[in-house]
Amino acid sequence: MPLEKVVMQAEEFRLIKEHVAAFAGLVLEEGTQRGLATKLLPRLEELRLRNFTDYYCYLKFSPGRDAEWRRLVPLLTNNETYFFRESSQLSVLAQEVLPALKEAKLAAGERSIRILSAGCSSGEEVYTLAMLLLESGCFSWDWDVRITGLDIDERVLDAARQGVYTERSFWATEPHLVQRYLKRHGDKFVVRPMLRKWTGFTQGNLLDLASVAGERFDIIICRNVLIYFGDDNVKRVLDNFGALQPPGGYLFLGHSESLARTQASYLPLRFPGAIIYRKRG
Ligand SMILES: C[S@@+](CC[C@H](N)C(=O)[O-])C[C@H]1O[C@@H](n2cnc3c(N)ncnc32)[C@H](O)[C@@H]1O
Repeated sequence: MPLEKVVMQAEEFRLIKEHVAAFAGLVLEEGTQRGLATKLLPRLEELRLRNFTDYYCYLKFSPGRDAEWRRLVPLLTNNETYFFRESSQLSVLAQEVLPALKEAKLAAGERSIRILSAGCSSGEEVYTLAMLLLESGCFSWDWDVRITGLDIDERVLDAARQGVYTERSFWATEPHLVQRYLKRHGDKFVVRPMLRKWTGFTQGNLLDLASVAGERFDIIICRNVLIYFGDDNVKRVLDNFGALQPPGGYLFLGHSESLARTQASYLPLRFPGAIIYRKRG
């Protein structure tokens, strides 16, 4: 049968959907079956597979499955992001969290800060955090600061490492900050070395977080990612975060994401326009 005539059966959708949720946490909504089939047909063609059952088996069992996941993930994820997204939360970070963290660190005789942007997409969140830390004036040259961006999608990480953006990314950013932290080349904006100095990117999956295992993050920011996950996987990700944070560590979730639906070991702190969380204990 010509490939364009191959239809994804309900059972095939269910198998792929369950496998995607188990691998990456992402929930494929009912009603997306047709769209998914359209996106996957070129994969079937390239791999010379006859139907979606074959594709499911390829993804699950073939020696090429890791490489296939790398191709599939960008077809499934929403990578929408921009600089200074959800500014009310960022104000809490700048005005409340950073000064408190600095004080606590100094009291403990430490001068290091570790931040994880989990689900960082093309890097705008990571560079925004670097700008906020620099603007806060809390951390001078003798502080060891590291802001790590992590994402499952290698394609967006490549863009993050390049750090080249267009005007569209800055609609929520004050112009003087764009001028200070990015260098204009025609219609492109390139992050300046002072933002690169504290930042880095790594590929990883929130469901296991092996790529950052053993690290301790004072702040984890995971915004507009868990909305695409089911409850069980949200709980799993939060347990993973808990294992990467010291007691008192701060967690920022997206505006529409709350811990109310989980049994997490985080305490909510309410501020005007923003809720953030602190690890208990
Ligand atoms: C909508 S973007 C959010 C970007 C940024 N945090 C923000 O709020 O603007 C969601 C990102 O989460 C990533 N993502 C989805 N599932 C993931 C997983 N299991 N592990 C790591 N990253 C994941 C996607 O690749 C995508 O880049």
